[in-house]
Amino acid sequence: MSSASGAASASRINTVVIPVAGRGTRLLPATKAIRKELLPVGRKPLLLYAVEEAIASGAEHIIFVTAPNDRSVSQYFSRDLELEGYLKRRGRSEEAAALERLCTSACFTFVPQEFPRGLADAILCARKETAGKPFGVILPDALILSQHPCIGQLASCYLRHGGPVIATRIIERHEAPGYGVLVIDPSGPGSDLGVVRVRSMVEKPRPECAPSLYGIFGRYILDPGIFDAIERLRTDASEELQLTDALNLYCQTNPVFGYIFEGEHFDTGSWLGYSKAVLECMLADDEIGPTLSQYFGTGRHN
Ligand code: UTP
Repeated sequence: MSSASGAASASRINTVVIPVAGRGTRLLPATKAIRKELLPVGRKPLLLYAVEEAIASGAEHIIFVTAPNDRSVSQYFSRDLELEGYLKRRGRSEEAAALERLCTSACFTFVPQEFPRGLADAILCARKETAGKPFGVILPDALILSQHPCIGQLASCYLRHGGPVIATRIIERHEAPGYGVLVIDPSGPGSDLGVVRVRSMVEKPRPECAPSLYGIFGRYILDPGIFDAIERLRTDASEELQLTDALNLYCQTNPVFGYIFEGEHFDTGSWLGYSKAVLECMLADDEIGPTLSQYFGTGRHN
């Protein structure tokens, strides 16, 4: 495996890869004709939270890995001059300007994944566009709301420690079958610093087999060396290439860290997580939140 490009030479993480080529079968039938990443959470599609997180963290280049015949994501991030003009003519210039900003706030690139062969395969599709530099990965269905954008927290950790970083936090033991779980090196930096050294990881262990309670949460900073690891993988029983397997190969020869992130996490790839995220965002909405809160009798006030 070729060695990682030097973290010391990177002053920040400029590029973020957002894979949006999965099938989204857990949210069927809603996702039959609409990508799950474009389902609304509050007033915005889920995907926009990921894009805003990347931009707020300093990213200027966002690479979407898309399903081959899907135009919906590129359409969403392309300007609609007719709509902007319509809004302006009706005195809604601020909304028109917001739509323009949405499409011009970063350089957006779209690369196709021929077939949904797993997350590692999706990331490999972005190899050329990442141009030999370290990059962030945001899984948009892992929604993380935080004052400090999560991928930016990981990027700072990468620049301090110089190795790939995985977002982690402590989970309940009974939740282990829903997560990837880290195997920690106790001689590495301590969790008191918010950082743990990763020896390896396992995907969705039974509770009694979980090697730790550090779950994996859909945010990564990776080096170009990960691509060589992915190329060495064989597909698993479900015919997919898993990022966990690639990271396990990578860990054998390179330091990898877990960063205990701040923020509220929602697994919007499931109906329960999606519903919690929608309610949370609508209750936090300045205009609708207070009335909605009364309606539900939650007693919450903005
Ligand atoms: P998931 O693991 O949630 O898979 O992907 P999925 O196919 O979208 O959903 P289910 O399990 O069928 O309900 C996590 C993220 O990785 C992307 C997905 O679009 C999602 O944003 N992904 C996954 C790809 O881009 N390609 C893949 O081959 C798999």
